[in-house]
Amino acid sequence: MKEYHLSPNDFIVPLFIVEGKGVKDPIPSMPGYFRLSLDLIEKKVASLWAKGLKAVLLFIKVEETLKDNKGTEALNPEGLMQRAIKQIKEAVPEMVVMTDVALDPYSSYGHDGIVKEGQILNDPTIAVLAKMALSHARAGADVVAPSDMMDGRIAEIRNKLEEAQFHNTLIMSYSAKYASSFYGPFRDALDSAPGFGDKKTYQIDFANREEALVETQRDLEEGADIVMVKPGLAYLDIIRDLKNSISAPIAAYQVSGEYAMLKAAAAQGWIDHDQVMIEQLVSFKRAGALLIATYFAEEAVALL
Ligand code: PBG
Repeated sequence: MKEYHLSPNDFIVPLFIVEGKGVKDPIPSMPGYFRLSLDLIEKKVASLWAKGLKAVLLFIKVEETLKDNKGTEALNPEGLMQRAIKQIKEAVPEMVVMTDVALDPYSSYGHDGIVKEGQILNDPTIAVLAKMALSHARAGADVVAPSDMMDGRIAEIRNKLEEAQFHNTLIMSYSAKYASSFYGPFRDALDSAPGFGDKKTYQIDFANREEALVETQRDLEEGADIVMVKPGLAYLDIIRDLKNSISAPIAAYQVSGEYAMLKAAAAQGWIDHDQVMIEQLVSFKRAGALLIATYFAEEAVALL
């Protein structure tokens, strides 16, 4: 009479990609997780596919010299992200390739948008994000995933994709993304921590509940295909709120800080890693998530 089950189909596997050859760079705050160069990414994606995992979410680490305040490198058709998409789709064509759309890894300020006098400029940013999403679609991305939380970006991206005849490219919107301290290890991994201030002017205040529904409904009206709640465990109530109000597919993101906490406690022998991991993953399904982006995907599938 078990109500909820996990399957490899539930998972989205985040991948961190760097320039170089043969690079397998450990991320200290994410034990067991690595930044990989493209040659190793190809092998990794083939092995994920063989394990039944069907979707990857790509993040890249941008060289310091390529960062600016305009997202120039984000639009480079030969940029690391664009090359990664092409190579993965060539190596494993059936793998669903999802891409992160936000300026932070490309930003000299470490912010998700263009900065002027200490402020994040919403409208100039969404114009760049739409071009960035189109450039990912041109490279072969199946799903673009804007994680920036600017207002109006979904409509802008959807229009840009439609104009260029990319009718089948999906948008997975980080619609309820909170300004959270659980993202620390991810920012270590990509060297993308904000250089000043925080992200509270565009991400949701963690004290808010209704706002998540407002933001999500707006993104759906603008043309999002999948919506997302992020972080995961501390926000299961939000997943359930959305589940009770909307019928679009909901994804949850179990973020880097959640991964780090479990790894750290398990390394001390204080909790049972595998049992807690599965319990947490099932809780996302119980809350109402159809998809779970998680750094535990490979380990979880090995246990199923
Ligand atoms: C960037 C982005 C972040 C994450 C995913 N996309 C960091 C942030 O918003 O600062 C965090 C993922 C994680 O912590 O695992 N827009």
